[in-house]
This record gives sequence, C-alpha cells and structure tokens, in this order.
Amino acid sequence: MSSTRKTDPTIDVKVEALLKQMTLDEKIGQMTQVRHFDDIRLEDVKSKFIGSVIHTQGPLPGSDALEWQAKFAAFQQEALSTRLGIPLLFGVDAVHGQNTFEGATIFPHNIGLGAAGNAGLVEKAAAITAIEAKATGFQWVFSPCVAIPFNEKWGRVYEAFSESTELTAELTRASVKGHQGSDGKMGVMATAKHFIGDGATDFGVEGGHTSLSKEEVLELLIPPYQAAIEEGVAAIMASFNTLDQISMHAHKAMLTDLLKERLAFDGILVSDWKAYSRFGENDIILAGIDMVMAVDGDLEMFQEGVKKGVKSGDIPLGRIDDAVRRILRQKFRFGLFDQPYPDKELIKMIGIPEHRSVARQTVRESLVLLKNEKQVLPLKKDQKIVVVGEFADNAGLQSGGWTVNWQGTSENYTGATTLLEGIKKFAKKEVYYDPDGSADFPDVDLALIVVGETPYAEFFGDIGGEMDLFQHTLTETHQNYLRSYAEKGIQTVVVLISGRPLLVTDQIKQCDAFVVAWLPGSEGDGLAEVLFGEYDFKGKLPHSWPKSIAAYTGKFGPNFWDPSADPLYPFGYGLTYAT
Ligand code: GLC
Repeated sequence: MSSTRKTDPTIDVKVEALLKQMTLDEKIGQMTQVRHFDDIRLEDVKSKFIGSVIHTQGPLPGSDALEWQAKFAAFQQEALSTRLGIPLLFGVDAVHGQNTFEGATIFPHNIGLGAAGNAGLVEKAAAITAIEAKATGFQWVFSPCVAIPFNEKWGRVYEAFSESTELTAELTRASVKGHQGSDGKMGVMATAKHFIGDGATDFGVEGGHTSLSKEEVLELLIPPYQAAIEEGVAAIMASFNTLDQISMHAHKAMLTDLLKERLAFDGILVSDWKAYSRFGENDIILAGIDMVMAVDGDLEMFQEGVKKGVKSGDIPLGRIDDAVRRILRQKFRFGLFDQPYPDKELIKMIGIPEHRSVARQTVRESLVLLKNEKQVLPLKKDQKIVVVGEFADNAGLQSGGWTVNWQGTSENYTGATTLLEGIKKFAKKEVYYDPDGSADFPDVDLALIVVGETPYAEFFGDIGGEMDLFQHTLTETHQNYLRSYAEKGIQTVVVLISGRPLLVTDQIKQCDAFVVAWLPGSEGDGLAEVLFGEYDFKGKLPHSWPKSIAAYTGKFGPNFWDPSADPLYPFGYGLTYAT
C-alpha cells in the first residue's frame, strides 16, 4: 500500500490544484504546528490556517479516548471551516505503543525489539500502535527512532533498535510498514528520526556534536533512512546535533541536497521541538524544514517572520511551495480529506487482550540470557522463591521514559502487569516479596533480584551530561540486593531493567543467572513465561556489552565495527535453554 501511495499520480494532481489556490498566509499556516493547549485558541486554528497539532508533555486532551477525540474534532472543525478546508494533522510521540494514553498497550522500547530481531513482530507492534493512536485521535506518530547509538552514555539508546546499521534498517522497514498500513489498510504517518547523527555525537551527548566523516555517515547512518524512504515513510524529523560544525536543522546540504534530492525523500521534513527558536525560523526553512514543531507562544511572530522572509526574497516562494506540497501530499495519501475526524469505533480496541498478547510475545523474545550456571533457570514451580526489589512490582519502573509522561512514571498504570504478578501466576508455593532487600526469609530456595534504571527521556538520561542523574553501574542499593542474598549462599537470578547495556561485570560474576530485560513495557508477566521455561530465550544483544569503564574513555562505547573494542559480550550474544 505504501508503494501505491508513493506513486499515486492523482494525488499530485490534487496537490497542485489546491496549492495554486492558496495565499501566502494559508501556505505558512500549513507549515505551522501548535500544541492543543497553552495559548492556542480555537479561532487561531482558523484565522492562522494552522496545519498541524501536536500532543506531548502537558495537559491531557481529556480523561478518556472519547474526550480526546472530541477535543481534536473541535480543532478539526475549525480547520475545515477555512476557505479551503484543509484538514489538520494530529501528531504524538507514540514510540512504544500510544504511550501518552494511560490504558494503551505499551510495547518494549525499540532496544528490546532490536534484541528480539523479529521484523514480523515489529510490524505487528507498529500496526497495533497505529490503531491505538488513531483511537485517541492521531494520524501521525513521531516514531520510529532509527538512530545508531555509538555510546551508551547517550540518554536515548533505548529509543533506537541497535548499534547494527543492517538490523536497524531491517526493523525500520517493518516499523514504517506496520505504522503506515499495507494491503489496503490505512495506518498512521510514521516519522523516521532524528536526521542525522543523533546517536553518534562525541561522548553520547544529546544534541551534541557528531564528528563522523561523510563516508561514515553514508555507510553507518543513512541506510535506515533509505529503508524508510523505500517504504514510503511520510515524515522525517531533523536532529538537534551538529554535523561538520553545522546545526542539522540548518544543514541544507544534508536536509535538502542529500535527503530530499539524492535520496528522493518526498515526505514532510519536520523540525524537532521549537527548533525555530534555537536556529531561526527562516534558516531552518531555507535548509529544508517543511513543518515547524510547537510554534505556540510565538505564533504571530513566527508567521510574520516567515512572511517577511518571503517578501524580502530571503526565502524563495518555491521553498514555501515545496514545503506545502509535501504536507498536502501526505494529507491526501493518508486520507485526511476523506476522513478528517477520528473513528469512535476504534476506541474499544485500546489495550484489548489480542494487543497485549502481541506485546507479551515481544517481551518474551526481547529477553537476553547472559549467564545460567547450575541450571538455576528455568525456575521450578515448586521452589520457594523470594522476589527482591522495587522494580519487580512496578509497571512504571519496567517501562522507561515516554510512558504516561515524557519522563515516564514510577507508579503502576492502567492495564499493565508486573513481573511479580507474572511469577505468582506460575509458582505453586507462596512467593515472598522483599521490595527493598531488607527482609530475611529463612527458607527460600532462590532469590529473583530485579534491578535497573529508573525512567528517563532525552538529555535527562545522558550519563555525565548536564543533568548527571545516571551512571554506568547499578546503584549501591541495587548492588546490595544481590550481595545480601548471594553471601547467604542462596541461588540468585538477576533481571536487569535498563535502557542500555550497563557495567555489571561484578554482578554477573556474583550471581548464578543473569537476564537482560531492557524496558518491557506493560506486559511484565511475559518475563515470567520465559523464566519458568514456558518459552525459551530468543533474544540476542543488539549492542556490544561493556566490560569496564575503560570502554568509555573515547568518544564512543564498544561497537562491533571497532577493532579496539573489547566487550564483555559481543553484539549478537545470547544463551538459550537449549544451548
Ligand atoms: C523532543 C524529541 C523528539 C520528539 C519531539 C516531540 O524534543 O527530540 O524525539 O518527537 O520533541 O515531543
């Protein structure tokens, strides 16, 4: 279907017919994306010819899906009442399910999908995300992130699939296809992000400087975008980092000459958050940005600034027409003119068992077994087990950033199940729970110790960055959970919940079995199905695993293409019960 969308000649005829009727104000309006709250009034949508609305951190559009749909329908009605009646695009960061809506199915973050390495499952997860995004009023998701993370210091490693360009390109293709729909099914617009070099900055700094050569960019970073473009990806988001000392948002050679012309990307190039205020609206539009994100607060100033730029000749009218053409093309391709309003019938699909069952399968296939001595795994149903740690019974802590809130949550949330709940379903004997490692259960056979990273998103997660809230090793508290049980001679199984490989060499030595669970999302009970042997391990490391802090003395962490890397476990490593 996406290929049909790409070559449908009738769409371009409609686009040209509409474009030539448009005034400059209407064109600049289409390039403007605002939030649905703050100081945006309904009448602004009409009087400023707004092209798109974004929902992200901030007040919710309502308390249930019907209210979300109704809020967006009111905005849509305004847009449709303009002279040309061009419908609005509603966009959201649904990056592992429709994660801004509590009650939606939440999938493992992309690093877990990379570990599973199952393109068919990625496509299914994306298709479910599309349904639950549409059910809450959206036709556009800012996903998938197709970065190649070079350094685990970066706070966004988990948003990407893998350090492998090849695996990332394969899963990108599946993700775009799943989100956008195929075989006649209409999905949502997908967005490959962030173009280009977001995960390859020196020392893993979010929005930092990427010093790769042009050849390295072409060889290691471009292929996932080529895969997305071949799949007809509707949008690509520019990145905050610099390349060649030029801000990517103002990098015409990369945004226009390479991406739009040489790679023939015909979709919408959308800016990242308020990039116009960081890099200047005229500069980013001249470089190739078509849709400017989150203009609210500066609506008048932004639109007047661009208008002045066009009148003065700083911005050629042809650049504006190219941007609007691309925006209209996607609105036609994704059926907005035919069906501008959300479908109420989809609301009953949010979080249904069939969706959760696919998410649970994804959790199972994402788990990576690094160690299993004395066959302590699989767990036996008649064992006396103590589950240790606050991460074992907290859906928020097992889901990472971009869950309910931008920075995630440390609470349970609607529809989710925890690892502990899953364990209790299988165990025949009472399961003890030691949430803070202080208990002393005398007669346990085995301790299941769940440790990891609390949720974070973007620069909040940078290790050593401006926030400096996170580290490469487990916290002392989490190290003590394991130490206290191992020193009593009790068998120990560690489950690591994290957004990236961490330095756990000592803990791996100390325990009997070690499982990497990444950020599983809402279906925590999927972990128990593998721990009890209902299913075998399938996951393989999507990143080289660091041995010591020495791995981070350079600009990057250990990566399989770096001959000097000396990982504890190589990319692609993972044990199974069978082996
Ligand atoms: C953020 C992120 C981007 C996200 C956008 C909208 O700054 O960089 O990934 O899609 O803003 O929330």
